[in-house]
Amino acid sequence: MNILAIETSCDETAAAIIQDGQKILSNVVVSQIDIFAKYGGVIPEIAARSHLEVILPVIHQSFQDAGFILSNNPALDDWSKIDAIAVTHTPGLLGSLLIGTLTARTLAILHNKPLFPVHHLKSHIYANWLNSQDQHYKISQETSNFLNSRHPAGRYRGIAPFPREDGRNGHVSRIEKSELPNFPLLALVISGGHTQIIHMPHHNHFEIIGTTRDDAIGECFDKVAKILGLPYPGGPAISKLALTGNRHQYKLPHPQVPELDFSFSGLKTAVLRAVQHELNQPISFPSHQLAPLLSSKQTADFAASFEQTAIDILLEKLEKALLSHPNVRSLVFAGGVSANHLLRTAAKDRFQSPSLSIFFPDPSFSGDNAAMVGAAAFYEIQSGVQPSDPFCINLFPRSSIR
Ligand code: KG4
Ligand code: ZN
Repeated sequence: MNILAIETSCDETAAAIIQDGQKILSNVVVSQIDIFAKYGGVIPEIAARSHLEVILPVIHQSFQDAGFILSNNPALDDWSKIDAIAVTHTPGLLGSLLIGTLTARTLAILHNKPLFPVHHLKSHIYANWLNSQDQHYKISQETSNFLNSRHPAGRYRGIAPFPREDGRNGHVSRIEKSELPNFPLLALVISGGHTQIIHMPHHNHFEIIGTTRDDAIGECFDKVAKILGLPYPGGPAISKLALTGNRHQYKLPHPQVPELDFSFSGLKTAVLRAVQHELNQPISFPSHQLAPLLSSKQTADFAASFEQTAIDILLEKLEKALLSHPNVRSLVFAGGVSANHLLRTAAKDRFQSPSLSIFFPDPSFSGDNAAMVGAAAFYEIQSGVQPSDPFCINLFPRSSIR
């Protein structure tokens, strides 16, 4: 089954064609990250307008990369190869979701294809089912020319091409992923908007057993980066700088939150207070004026100490969750923060055991992409979920995984 998947929940416009939930026939991502780096965060109105400008060329490119083109006219997409359409409809930015869902609805009606609306967090979890050997990211020259003709150079960034064995851009292989997560499993979903521990007894069944009571972990990385004068998105910037810093230089508190819940707003404030204290400034000193006063060593030490504390907090809760769910056979990490290198090594050190397998998505699938939407939709269909009426599907900026 070939699914055309579309993702526009935040600031990435993405389309992919996925075969049987694992094989990536094409995967196109256009990121707006360069636009929002200037502002230090996403501006929803600009994000929605940018999606609108590129969504159709991005979808067209996903057909071209998959080789799904009409034999008598290679410039035209071959819709006969597509069995279903999947689209992120919740949660996310209202205007951004609107562009993806309206496009998917229109295409489903036009080409008479079943349409499956997908929850964004399910997609992040199912990124772990993708065959990472199949990945190839590509914005073709024509697409980037098209985009650059309409926008200042460098405004759009495609993820770097992943070369084929024959040196061309395209599919790498059709090999099945050798090992997939086993059920029951625990998923740690860590993104810009969410921090949740989810128990999955089997496919497409989600029980939230822990959640953040305030900020999400990714949001905390982004806010701490801002205090330290590092660019948006903060996670990769902190992680890179932390490599040069002393992780034990500044002692930051671990919040005492009951059960399996999290809290990250206190950690962000603790970093702010520690920076003010280090610089002998009062707590009324504006946060945006602190960064230029820090030495590069102090900035790196704060990045390292914060990263270590944040990762420790995540893993401590995960350990507690594993103790209360002893039957769990796999641990699955999902969402943008799961790209974090320290988290990956620390989790493997801490939880490696013959009875527990640990899965991280390939780092290029940790952030938002459409391939994971195609994987999630496939397993929904396998679980008996019926398509939605394309005239009726709605979008929800906020909603819980179900
Ligand atoms: O899943 P995602 O791409 O978008 C949402 O659905 O929110 O997650 C984005 C978040 C951002 O907050 C970003 O700073 C964080 O993921 N992130 C990281 C890393 N890479 C991205 N956080 C920590 N370490 C990283 N390497
Ligand atoms: Zn996401």
